[in-house]
Amino acid sequence: MSNYHIKHLEEYFQVYRKSVRDPEAFWEEIAEEHFVWRKKWDRVLSWDFSKPEVKWFEGARLNITENCLDRHLPTRGNKTAILFEPNDPKEEAQHITYRQLHEKVCRMSNVLKEQGVSKGDRVCIYLPMIPELAIALLACARIGAIHSVVFAGFSSQALATRINDCDCKLVITSDGSYRGGKTLNLKSIVDSALEACPGVQTVLVAKRTGEAIDMMKGRDLWLEPLMYKAYADYVAEVMDAEDPLFILYTSGSTGRPKGMVHTIGGYMVYTAYTFKNIFQYREQDVYWCTADIGWITGHSYIVYGPLANGATSVMFEGVPSYPDHGRFWEVVAKHKVNQFYTAPTAIRALAKESLKFVEQYDLSSLKVLGSVGEPINEEAWHWYNNNIGKGKSPIVDTWWQTETGGIMISPIPYVTPTTPTYATLPFIGVQPALMDEEGKEIKGNLVDGRLCIKFPWPSMARTIWGDHQRYRDTYFSAYENKYFTGDGALRDAVGYYRITGRVDDVIIVSGHNLGTAPIEDSINEHPAVAESAIVGFPHDVKGNALYGFVILKETGEGRDRDNLRKEINQQIAEQIGPIAKLDKIQFVSGLPKTRSGKIMRRILRKIASRDVADLGDISTLLNPEVVQEIQENVL
Ligand code: PRX
Repeated sequence: MSNYHIKHLEEYFQVYRKSVRDPEAFWEEIAEEHFVWRKKWDRVLSWDFSKPEVKWFEGARLNITENCLDRHLPTRGNKTAILFEPNDPKEEAQHITYRQLHEKVCRMSNVLKEQGVSKGDRVCIYLPMIPELAIALLACARIGAIHSVVFAGFSSQALATRINDCDCKLVITSDGSYRGGKTLNLKSIVDSALEACPGVQTVLVAKRTGEAIDMMKGRDLWLEPLMYKAYADYVAEVMDAEDPLFILYTSGSTGRPKGMVHTIGGYMVYTAYTFKNIFQYREQDVYWCTADIGWITGHSYIVYGPLANGATSVMFEGVPSYPDHGRFWEVVAKHKVNQFYTAPTAIRALAKESLKFVEQYDLSSLKVLGSVGEPINEEAWHWYNNNIGKGKSPIVDTWWQTETGGIMISPIPYVTPTTPTYATLPFIGVQPALMDEEGKEIKGNLVDGRLCIKFPWPSMARTIWGDHQRYRDTYFSAYENKYFTGDGALRDAVGYYRITGRVDDVIIVSGHNLGTAPIEDSINEHPAVAESAIVGFPHDVKGNALYGFVILKETGEGRDRDNLRKEINQQIAEQIGPIAKLDKIQFVSGLPKTRSGKIMRRILRKIASRDVADLGDISTLLNPEVVQEIQENVL
């Protein structure tokens, strides 16, 4: 019996048990029956978390684009692969069929090759949500180049850091991008980033907004004429299953972003298998994930997972509030979307608006609703369930990470009974563990602890680009022989998991991971600032917002505070991006520190959240007097 599509709860338990009892046999069967390989593996899995080293399908040869494109051509050539919905609802949607997508990917593969990109080279992609973005990912994969997508909301400095970290030799961008009523000149951001990136030889520019941009002779080329001239076929490079497919950066506890490296074979198998089950995708369905391809959700569940299943995947360029707050629902009704996958922050923002934005659209096509990126609060869950799902579309609250590559804990709709705010049960093959602070696993139910995974799964990141030691230190050193997620979780009486949030220095704002360190580094570079500390506090739309405690240098003391706040936020926007701006900035004379000089963020977090009933023992602090001052002036 094929275990590829799970339809009943007993079947889930049975397949889950099989996947844990004999993971190799289980994944071998899935890989063998549902994908095309140029050569089969010599070994399904080898692993050692102490190094850490994990290999899936070692020795196998394949190209992921043959699985996402070529193999569908005989049966699904005329089926829509990517349904592009532009920012402006008056602009026509584009239905790109599998055949057309294949052709475009081949053309771009030839363009990249002509520009000297070879197997193993890194290509940076800095594009808005236009079809060229998906095509660029696939073209890199087809020629064996490693793509590194940088979300097009990042600033030029953040872009430059990422380009240099993995030595990209080519950048793909566009003239500009549309975001609601605004346009953004992306090319100028790339131009200033490249002043600090001597390794970039070529910039390919897609035309989107048509605005005036500078083209540097010898470096910048318009993509369209090159695509037009390029040959429309390209024989896919044959890759090893463990060759890198892409690098995607995520925040960490130091200023340097971590370039998570994902490899081809395991990532393909796991994203495809999770997509099929967690969205219960059927052949005629139209699936829509609203994420940006600049994040892992877009990589795995707009591009690779859906296309590997021959699905129709909607790609949306716009924002939920343009031209009005009904846009998501207008698009659902227009394209008769069956599966809709979004973030709690979007749900909370839309739930604040009038229900008339929802009620004017026919949402009866919806069968599955998804949530990702942060814990979904109960109120948002019910609003989503009642008003969008009309109580009949199960909500899949999917927990996972950039590092995990694919969804790890989630209900399977129409299979797993859901409970608001619970990600419920581990997906097939996923073995979670809750750990206490002493490093012991907490067994049994009705417990909470730090969430780890104790056995490899196919789509886990293999390393941090250029820094394997950091990979080990960050994920495999806290608990012996386990991958540590950085999240806290509880397990209820029936074994359902509920994610309670980060237990490290990462704060999730509107679903975006923000490390405190890079933001503090940026603030501290302001000439008037001596030191700073950032914490999160609850925000009814963003989930968390950022609160900064800032100590000024003597030279800054006399300055106008509101101007300083503006300058600090301006600096953060330039160095990281507008998403990292602070909601509140409090100027303080000191920060609470332990005797060893560590900032006690726990205390600051409580003050910022106005949760000061129990600040814990502050008598051991180096400077307990500062706590009262901070509390008195809290914003
Ligand atoms: O804290 C968890 C939260 O988002 C983190 C991962 O962020 P990122 O790498 O940007 O990937 C986001 C998209 C997969 C996790 O460590 N998170 C993600 N999904 C959920 C969640 N927290 C609670 N519930 C979720 N469903």
